[in-house]
Amino acid sequence: MTNKILFTKKHLLGLEDFTREEIKLILDTAKPFKNLFTRSIKKVPTLRGRSVVLLFYEASTRTRTSFELAAKRLSADTINIAVNVSSVKKGESLIDTAKTLESMKSDFIVIRHSYSGSPHILAKNVSSSIINAGDGFHEHPSQGLLDIYTVNEKKGRVAGLKVVIVGDILHSRVARSNLWGLTKLGAKVILCGPPTLIPKDVQKVSPSNIDIEYNLDKAIKDADVVNILRVQFERQMEHLFPSIREYSLLYGMNKERLSRAKNDVLILHPGPMNRGLEITSEVADSLNSVINEQVTNGIAVRMAILYLLSSVKE
Ligand code: CP
Repeated sequence: MTNKILFTKKHLLGLEDFTREEIKLILDTAKPFKNLFTRSIKKVPTLRGRSVVLLFYEASTRTRTSFELAAKRLSADTINIAVNVSSVKKGESLIDTAKTLESMKSDFIVIRHSYSGSPHILAKNVSSSIINAGDGFHEHPSQGLLDIYTVNEKKGRVAGLKVVIVGDILHSRVARSNLWGLTKLGAKVILCGPPTLIPKDVQKVSPSNIDIEYNLDKAIKDADVVNILRVQFERQMEHLFPSIREYSLLYGMNKERLSRAKNDVLILHPGPMNRGLEITSEVADSLNSVINEQVTNGIAVRMAILYLLSSVKE
């Protein structure tokens, strides 16, 4: 773990802020942590004495559990704040809650919030390291990193790959983190979905590496990776596509579409899945699917994130 010296970031707010080298360092650091998973004792003492607070204002299964397991495998103490039964319910502000946690000497605060920019506000107001576990429509950097780790592990590279991201790009923080990370590492990204769900200015992220294609059959032709996004009904303020049936027909990944893609195309989905809507069970459970491996890799990637961020705290 000698690479620690190269890392200077205190917070993980978004992949927009990270260089190609920093992203590669996180991915490289995750590899030895993943090797731990085959051992009977999966724990190392790296973060003994440190504390990680999980402050989730929105629902989560994967991200919260994964950060908790990652912290525990590094021997850190973990505290889950149940927002619904905390003083948030009495009207306490986000900053006051974070300052309270800081006063308890929390080394890390992992926050998920429906407002874009919430982790950035905390980073400006408290001394703990802030990790963005998903902020509104903005970014979900650890998900982007684990997706890229999984692609790199399976394909042996990221540069030069054709990666299709399908679905509700407009409301997807996962898409935005993937876009920043993938393009910095040299992948070609095709965004595919209904015109109402693809922001007009999204190509600004990396104009030469991002294309938009509204036809899924054309988009997945020659694709190396297809990352299928969840339709986020909870974030849609208006009806942005005519019907679920039509969405599924035009943008659902099914067995027939999969049969026309490359034999070795990787199918990713960040979860939770709407089976039968954006992805059929036949595709989700197919040999091309790496959805369960994404979850496993998420722990190793989050161990790498905690480990590297911890190096700049002293
Ligand atoms: N991928 C993801 O963020 O899943 P959760 O909402 O379950 O954390």
